Amino acid sequence: MAGYDYDILVIGGGPGGYVAAIKAAKEGKRVCIAERAAFGGVCLNEGCIPTKTLIKTANVLHEVKEAATFAVEGVDATAVSVSMGKMQARKKNVVHSLVGGVKSLLRANTVAIMEGAASFVDAHTVEIGAKKVSFDYAIIATGSSVLMPSFIKREGENRILTSREALDIDAVPASIAIIGGGVIGIEFAYLFNRLGSTVTVVELMDKILPMVDEEVSAMAKKRLEKDGVAFHLGAKVHTVRDNAVLFQSNGQEKSVKADCVLMAVGRVPNTDGLNAEAIGLAFEKGAVVTDASLRTNVPHIYAIGDVNGKVMLAHTASHEGMVAVDSICGGNARMDYTRIPSCIYLEPEIASIGLTENQAKEQGKTVRVGTFPMAGNGKSLVEGDTDGIAKVILDAELGEILGVHLYGKHVTDMIAEIAVAMTLEATAEEIIDTIHPHPTVSEAISEAFMGAYGKAIHWV
Ligand code: NAI
Repeated sequence: MAGYDYDILVIGGGPGGYVAAIKAAKEGKRVCIAERAAFGGVCLNEGCIPTKTLIKTANVLHEVKEAATFAVEGVDATAVSVSMGKMQARKKNVVHSLVGGVKSLLRANTVAIMEGAASFVDAHTVEIGAKKVSFDYAIIATGSSVLMPSFIKREGENRILTSREALDIDAVPASIAIIGGGVIGIEFAYLFNRLGSTVTVVELMDKILPMVDEEVSAMAKKRLEKDGVAFHLGAKVHTVRDNAVLFQSNGQEKSVKADCVLMAVGRVPNTDGLNAEAIGLAFEKGAVVTDASLRTNVPHIYAIGDVNGKVMLAHTASHEGMVAVDSICGGNARMDYTRIPSCIYLEPEIASIGLTENQAKEQGKTVRVGTFPMAGNGKSLVEGDTDGIAKVILDAELGEILGVHLYGKHVTDMIAEIAVAMTLEATAEEIIDTIHPHPTVSEAISEAFMGAYGKAIHWV
């Protein structure tokens, strides 16, 4: 709109913000993006990408050690090790290349880049350093930070890491105690175990990965235990004292001492410095309140990604960015939070979408469940890892797909099939009628759907 410096100002250059900025530019809007730290946000700089890069090294280390299983001779498994310096250098290269790519994409789309923190002056103006920038619409995409909870006291001399510091380690700690058995806690438990640390996870709930289907979570825990990770479940941590994690479990006081402690009990939306009071933005539990179009209570201001506290995943943020821009451009796009895939990078991998079996039952649905063990899948056998299952949860009457949970090799690259199916409101019958290539782990998916009707081919 005439009179303002930009049609759209995006605050934050993570996977929510930069995608929204590029999408808006492609829709012909004059766009400015402000970033106070590094483009790519937590995902590229200190989250998804660096974690998976380090996990790749851990996986290669493991495969090389297991070479003899695949008939590869001449590898002395006891002599194989990871160069921490080279692992960190590789991580930096990967991150550097992706961050550079984001900036190039922004420039190529003629998005104006402002490096600095944006703070609202009024509902159509922000201050970025000494500069004032006016806009017709704004999209807040400021992300989240690690929660350092006040309910866990810190006493004495501690070495407490968050996921950020854990990604920058230059030496593998002999032992690590991890507070929180959610996604961050478990991915790091896997990583440090593979790198050679003695790992103990202390988790409040009675299962790890509380958001994952119960059966898959139990299998993943068993596998991690087999690999040497120790767990305390139903354990409420209250203090970290001199690198000992103190917790209550079954009414008893217990502790785990380690060389360092990883705090992984969640993340909180970043709203500091925004001066949100200047525009009267509404918050709930620290997150900016948004509707299905990502609009806040201030109609020309939107909030996407972790800052709205809905689903803290990079791909959710990116999609919310597309929906917000569509809404600004006069479209009717809405977020559907019931079919967001989620991936956890262990070996084997976990990928899921939709409801878990228990969630479906709690919602009063009559479910039909099908599972297919990876032990019956040829490609898993070829890969040398037959742990895992494909599990599908269907509405018993309609055959509607309520949830799919995969635990197996490469499954993070397969869950998109189900995301498409759910978007198209495909039925179980249609998945069964879809030809899955052989030999692939994806065959286990159609087998699980057939299994829901007692008709799996490769399992009795
Ligand atoms: P989270 O919410 O997933 O897990 C935190 C865990 O800490 C919960 O299981 C909770 O029960 C436990 N906890 C809380 N208070 C405790 C206490 N006093 N004692 C013991 N345990 C306690 O949070 P997390 O793992 O920090 O991840 C933050 C966000 O980042 C999540 O939204 C997650 O989905 C996202 N993320 C996603 C990844 C992926 O998709 N691969 C990877 C990393 C993060």
